[in-house]
Amino acid sequence: MKETMILKVSDFAFEEKLKILAKMLAEGKTVAFPTETVYGLGANALDESAISQIYAAKGRPSDNPLIVHIADLEMLEVLVSEIKPYAKALMAAFWPGPIAFIFKKCDRVPTSVTGGLDTVAVRMPDHEVARALIRLSGVPVAAPSANLSGKPSPTLGRFVAEDLFGRVDCIIDGGAVSVGLESTVLDVTGEIPVILRPGKITKEAISEVVGACDVDAATESLSEVTMVAKSPGMKYKHYAPNATLHVYLGDAMGVVKAMYEKTEAAIRANQKVALFVVDEEWCVLEKLFENTLSKADFDKHVVVFSQGSIKALDRYASQLFRDLRDADAHGCDLILARGVEAEGIGKALMNRLIKASEGSVFKI
Ligand code: TXA
Ligand code: MG
Repeated sequence: MKETMILKVSDFAFEEKLKILAKMLAEGKTVAFPTETVYGLGANALDESAISQIYAAKGRPSDNPLIVHIADLEMLEVLVSEIKPYAKALMAAFWPGPIAFIFKKCDRVPTSVTGGLDTVAVRMPDHEVARALIRLSGVPVAAPSANLSGKPSPTLGRFVAEDLFGRVDCIIDGGAVSVGLESTVLDVTGEIPVILRPGKITKEAISEVVGACDVDAATESLSEVTMVAKSPGMKYKHYAPNATLHVYLGDAMGVVKAMYEKTEAAIRANQKVALFVVDEEWCVLEKLFENTLSKADFDKHVVVFSQGSIKALDRYASQLFRDLRDADAHGCDLILARGVEAEGIGKALMNRLIKASEGSVFKI
């Protein structure tokens, strides 16, 4: 059991304390920190024993490689051995930001960081605290999402503490993150870029900069459990809540009806249900419940998580992981979530919903 220090960005003399944490990080300690996507659990990427503490703290299989975070382009030089011209254009367009690039690695990068691969994932986060921490530490920082392996990625400092208190040296609590889904992972070692994990930076946005972009087939399929995954993270069960999660796709009336019927059946079985609903459909669903259920029964059995408009999915994306955890905290047996069209951020959102539901997606 470690003695975990928690530092809040609102704490007295935050900048001074951040310097101390950065020094600890450089010297081999584990420090969890906020980024714009999700919280990361950082360790010095060039220090094998620090890296092993990340895997131990998370309970993560050590063949699943880590993303290395940098504060500036100078740090890239010790990490990668080749950068294609089109990758330079993508870095200029999207860094700092929610995209990790896969490059051929340098010998300096320990294979424990890369899960034995000859490539390394690198990201420059668009978050002041994250970049200040990395800059002050003076070393590249390997950081997977700061959750216990198999839990949803943490989007609030308190979720990091829930999972990792006593398992890491420090946690920096910077409140809620903005994007809420992990970065796009893009392989830039080939002729054209290939998306291995969808995120906020979309295929369309990448194509606009460099003319072409492929998407690895595994990110598209309902069953991402594949033995020959290019990105090792794809083959692990991820983001799964304790509750059973069902996802509904289709036209509004069909989805409303399916959610209503499933909720009703669950209530009859004395279960507690979390509903992840969009505004356009909740107004209809709410009326159905009002007409058929007493308020006492509704309050006892149903928890509603409003996801805003189906036409503006940034909010749903930023809340998904928080709401999955909160549904569990409410003791829900079942989560019924609105599926979304795989367009823009909807693609990353749907990818996470598919994983969290282990493929329980119902097309109405
Ligand atoms: O937004 C993010 O990327 C967050 C924050 C903390 O930056 N980090 C994150 O890390 O999501 P993690 O470890 O949870 O996910 C890293 C993903 C995994 O799916 C892993 O398999 C993939 O990136 N990856 C890492 N290195 C790779 C490599 N060399 N080749 C292919 N995939 C790689
Ligand atoms: Mg993760």
